Amino acid sequence: MKTLSTPDEARQFTRALRANGKRVGLVPTMGALHAGHLSLVDQSQRHCDATIATIFVNPTQFAATEDLSCYPRTLEQDYEMLAAAGVAAVFVPQNEAMYPPGFSTYVEPPEVARTLEGNCRPEHFRGVTTVVMKLFHAVPADCAFFGKKDYQQWKVIQAMSRDLDVGIDVIACEIIREPDGLALSSRNRYLDPSERHRALRLSAALKDVEQAIAAGERDAATLQDRMRQTLVSGDGVHQIDYAVIVNADTLVPLANLDRPAVALIAARVGQTRLIDNKELCVDLGSPSSR
Ligand code: PAJ
Repeated sequence: MKTLSTPDEARQFTRALRANGKRVGLVPTMGALHAGHLSLVDQSQRHCDATIATIFVNPTQFAATEDLSCYPRTLEQDYEMLAAAGVAAVFVPQNEAMYPPGFSTYVEPPEVARTLEGNCRPEHFRGVTTVVMKLFHAVPADCAFFGKKDYQQWKVIQAMSRDLDVGIDVIACEIIREPDGLALSSRNRYLDPSERHRALRLSAALKDVEQAIAAGERDAATLQDRMRQTLVSGDGVHQIDYAVIVNADTLVPLANLDRPAVALIAARVGQTRLIDNKELCVDLGSPSSR
């Protein structure tokens, strides 16, 4: 596995692969890798001839009050996992390689970035669109793989790629969970055992919504109430940033589940902010759903 440190080096490596007729897949990450990240690598290996992963804890997507300085860094372990998965190269730039002195150009995020995470973390998506665009230029791949764990991020990158004619296929991969339902996240390392237990409320609330829908409920307000009750019940989650059911594509609120929808949650367990979501399957053809 080759290690690439600068955007120029990464671009040359990617171009050489493509010149040899290889289909290249890009998997951007911030490291502290887990099975969720490896599932993206796995999808890339299936779709493409060569995979390039990136590890860069991008400072521009963290607010001053967020966890940039203590974000988990496990580089040696990450290399081992990526090498074992058979990736061709890992692009691991230093901050100065991505943001040299005088850097001042940012990508304005699309409309779908304005809501939810965009409300809670106002500068976040500008940092994400900027760094992802830079990674797309450093690694001009055929496809790039993103997790539905960060559902809104996927929608933001999809819109940016379409609007700015990026020419890289954005492929979304399913959420990988622990056996008990907790969505894998680099931030789960921050949870102590009691918080780890409380964090299960997020996936439980999403499951609850799914069950209510299976039982025939279609009113979004009723479903949202139920989701919030499950989140806070017992020794639950105290600070909910949002727990909503929205249009799966635009993320605009819905009154009824009469079109593809997604339930999205962001909540704090202790000091740790967690997000989770579930796409909601509604039989749009059945009379009771109209
Ligand atoms: P990071 O949080 O490291 O996540 C990298 C990718 O892994 C993202 O596409 C994310 O959605 C995916 N991922 C994380 N947990 C997952 C899970 N449990 N199941 C499936 N996929 C999962 O997201 C970022 O980094 C950054 O914002 C980045 C896109 C790299 C830009 O800096």
